[in-house]
Amino acid sequence: MKEKLLEIIPEFNEIKNEKLREMTLEAMIMAIEKGGWSPSDLAKIPFTLLIEETNVSLLEHTRAVTRICIGMARAIDATLGPKLPINFDFLVSGAILHDVGKLLEYQREGLRYTKSASGKLLRHPFSGVQIATLAGLPDEISHIIANHSHEGDHGKRTNEGILLHHADFTSFEPLKT
Ligand SMILES: [Fe+2]
Repeated sequence: MKEKLLEIIPEFNEIKNEKLREMTLEAMIMAIEKGGWSPSDLAKIPFTLLIEETNVSLLEHTRAVTRICIGMARAIDATLGPKLPINFDFLVSGAILHDVGKLLEYQREGLRYTKSASGKLLRHPFSGVQIATLAGLPDEISHIIANHSHEGDHGKRTNEGILLHHADFTSFEPLKT
């Protein structure tokens, strides 16, 4: 499964720290297995249930958000440098995993995708943190996952958390009808 994931999400390779890259992969694998999916399902699962019949998959959204984050991080590094420090590896890992909890929050019912029993109790920022913890990822990654959506609006996000939050909404709000 690891090779397949590296093929469909090449952005894993942007994580320079090998241990962090492996734990990020492990978290994705755990979520796919726990949710009863296979890697090819990532291209079929809608990235959100809030936009009816969206044609954007969870795979496309995850890659788009990750690449937007990478672009933002590079632009900030080239212009502001140390005035706005960003941990690139944490950002990329958090971006790849920010919606990993959706693999537990959603289920397939025939041709439809709906909320699972677990998803009705725990939205994906919460189930995503569970997965990250099980995979041994540091709290910096759990922080990005936990706070990426409106759940994090009342707290203080890290620099990486702020970038990810905006990259996520950049890839969501324009698609709302
Ligand atoms: Fe997202």
